[in-house]
Amino acid sequence: MDTQFLSTEAKKLVALPKGILAIDESMPTCNKRFENLGIPTTEENRRKYRELLITAPGIEESISGMILFDETIRQSTATGIPFTEIFKQKGMSIGIKVDSGTKDIPNHDGEKFTEGLEGLNNRLVEYKNMGASFAKWRAVINIDMEKGLPSNECLDINSKSLSQYAQIAQENNIVPIVEPEVIMDGSHTIEDSYTVTSKTLSNLFKTLKEQNIFIPGLILKTSMVISGNTCPVQATTEQIAEMTVKCLKENVPSDIGGIVFLSGGQTEQQACDNLRMMHKMNPELPWALSFSYGRAIQYPALKAWAANMEDVATAQNILVENARNNANANLGK
Ligand code: G3H
Repeated sequence: MDTQFLSTEAKKLVALPKGILAIDESMPTCNKRFENLGIPTTEENRRKYRELLITAPGIEESISGMILFDETIRQSTATGIPFTEIFKQKGMSIGIKVDSGTKDIPNHDGEKFTEGLEGLNNRLVEYKNMGASFAKWRAVINIDMEKGLPSNECLDINSKSLSQYAQIAQENNIVPIVEPEVIMDGSHTIEDSYTVTSKTLSNLFKTLKEQNIFIPGLILKTSMVISGNTCPVQATTEQIAEMTVKCLKENVPSDIGGIVFLSGGQTEQQACDNLRMMHKMNPELPWALSFSYGRAIQYPALKAWAANMEDVATAQNILVENARNNANANLGK
């Protein structure tokens, strides 16, 4: 393991004001988003859309790297340039989603564990040869206060697989992004979200430590501490910023490579405003704090492309502007 490489690469990924763009939707998820907007769900359309995102002029000014799906890392532009080559030309890092989705934990009220450890080492060797320098693994944590969810078993199982994945990634000199997503669906309050996110992160970092993971060569991708989407009382931007930063300060080691947020169903405006408020309220933070949004950066561009698939430039402009807004939010602007 090259600790120097891992910590330098992690720092580069979260070097403010830049953040990470997640374009790693699996085939079914990408197809679902296409279907909702009337885009035919073909491999060629997925390729065209990813080409639009990756080649957007100026995207590299706000984005340090993108997380790709297996299909995408193997694809090329319409003129035959491998996407991986475009990343090199733009100086952006290549990330890869390596989990293979979630399954129900038997007899656990719909709680999930994430699969993908089988054959992971071989896949990482291949991705590294293709130019990947970081990877992502997502775990899903549901909140249901009445049912007492998440259960300790769910947190333990997911922390364990996140740690095993992180270890295999670091052995291959790939920066692991560990993503325990506390889902915002539900009627829970922001206080419930704070309690569960704290428990999730403390369980995860305890396990990462036990597994001897090199923390400066690791990035945490986390959800914000936020009210459930059907909670009658929705927390303000100030409350979200304050409680999220408090939760992170209490549970994340200060020598971590960086912390990034997922958007998790927030609108692009909410995700951007919440991030900006965290930086405004906390000009000094112990770690770099940035974004790794998927929907909150991509969605308006995807909508524009769906409306006129010939007009790639308009969709790219929208994408770049959205990414820039989040980079500015990282500066408290
Ligand atoms: O794993 C989640 C994605 O990488 C980020 O997606 O910002 O749309 O929640 P999101």
